[in-house]
Amino acid sequence: MTKKKSQKKRAAPRQAKKTKVRAAKAAPRKSRASQTYDASTQNRIIKLINSSLDIDEVLNLSMDLMENSLNATASSILLHDPDTNELKFYLATGEKKDMLKVIRMPADKGVAGRCFQTGRTLLIPDAAKSPFFYKAVDDKTKFVTKNLIATPLPIKGKRIGVLEVLNKSGGTFTKHDEQRLKNMAQEISVAIENARLYDEVKNAYVQSMLNMAKAERFRDNDTGLHIERCGEYATRLAPELGYEERELENLRVSMMMHDIGKVAIPDSILLKPGRLDEAEMDVMKTHTTKGGQILGQAPLLQLAIEIATCHHEKWDGSGYPQGLKGEVIPLSARLLAIIDVFDALSSKRPYKDPFPPSRVKEILIEGRGTHFDPNILDLFLGRFQEMCAILKNMS
Ligand code: C2E
Ligand code: SIN
Ligand code: SIN
Ligand code: FE
Repeated sequence: MTKKKSQKKRAAPRQAKKTKVRAAKAAPRKSRASQTYDASTQNRIIKLINSSLDIDEVLNLSMDLMENSLNATASSILLHDPDTNELKFYLATGEKKDMLKVIRMPADKGVAGRCFQTGRTLLIPDAAKSPFFYKAVDDKTKFVTKNLIATPLPIKGKRIGVLEVLNKSGGTFTKHDEQRLKNMAQEISVAIENARLYDEVKNAYVQSMLNMAKAERFRDNDTGLHIERCGEYATRLAPELGYEERELENLRVSMMMHDIGKVAIPDSILLKPGRLDEAEMDVMKTHTTKGGQILGQAPLLQLAIEIATCHHEKWDGSGYPQGLKGEVIPLSARLLAIIDVFDALSSKRPYKDPFPPSRVKEILIEGRGTHFDPNILDLFLGRFQEMCAILKNMS
């Protein structure tokens, strides 16, 4: 499995909890937000996101097929980085693949570089004798390249990189192999181009949601830094909860979107200086499900959706909107519950003044095992000073 590919895999126990979350956001409520937000654009984007396959899976599969059909021992895709003018191993198969991934070579060096520069396919029957062969790669990986074919990856008349197959078992590559590799390079180029477009759409979608969350927070929040702080507390604590480094950026932006559903709450309630009555609180509570609906059904925003939907659930089952209990509540939402209350208590709101840290700590401890997951709370309290420092520095 490649690094890129494993980025998309999540820990199974966290995956298992998503069904409940789905049930929550499917609740058929007519929200103000869903009336004003351009639902058809959103649906189109979500459709596009859903229809896209995992690109690395597709590429890995194609490379396996290619290797088998050409009897190659290894293969790789090198992509050109215009900023540094280097070719970087994007995907590689064979036993040295993990080492290759960190290797880059100047775009005018080696067989790959020559192929990239000239746009010609190069069939090298004996790498040791080739004047072009870039030995530095083999020196680093200890892979011995005997023979190879390198062919350019073309997109819209430009070259984006190079596709290589290496070391034909029991012989050298033929002209026929060369033609087949060229054909495959066309398909692989299209797949890569699609993946790039997909990434652009995904990033634009996440950005627009983040912008909505950023605009919203200014309504009931003096400095507007609450959501940035929530992202920061969360990414500091998350590694101890089993999140991996590569998940942290997604966790940060997802945490920042947790109250996005407040766009659907009228000023008369959200900005009310005093306590909310029961009916008003009922409206307020819908910011969770509405948040989930606004974020939509996109799998890429799954983390943001589960956080927005479940951040007011309580450990003992007395929270809203679903009354989920214990570990059925997604880990991300159990973490944010603590962070959010810590930050809300410590800050000024239209309906309350900030509490001093000692009182904040007391209220958190009162919620241990009732409102909050006791283990995560202990972790949080163990780093209380650090959390207070974030609060201070980001105010
Ligand atoms: P928020 O202001 O971001 O508060 C988030 C959570 O922090 C609250 O969720 C609550 O669990 C905790 N919290 C905030 N202030 C206090 C406090 O003074 N004491 C204690 N023990 N906990 C506090 P909750 O209660 O579900 O409220 C969700 C959102 O509803 C709040 O987000 C706020 O926007 C709104 N809200 C809640 N109560 C009132 C109120 O009395 N007046 C107004 N205008 N809005 C309220
Ligand atoms: C490789 O070993 O994969 C690249 C070496 C070269 O292109 O010269
Ligand atoms: C409350 O919990 O809502 C009031 C604040 C406090 O407990 O001091
Ligand atoms: Fe909330």
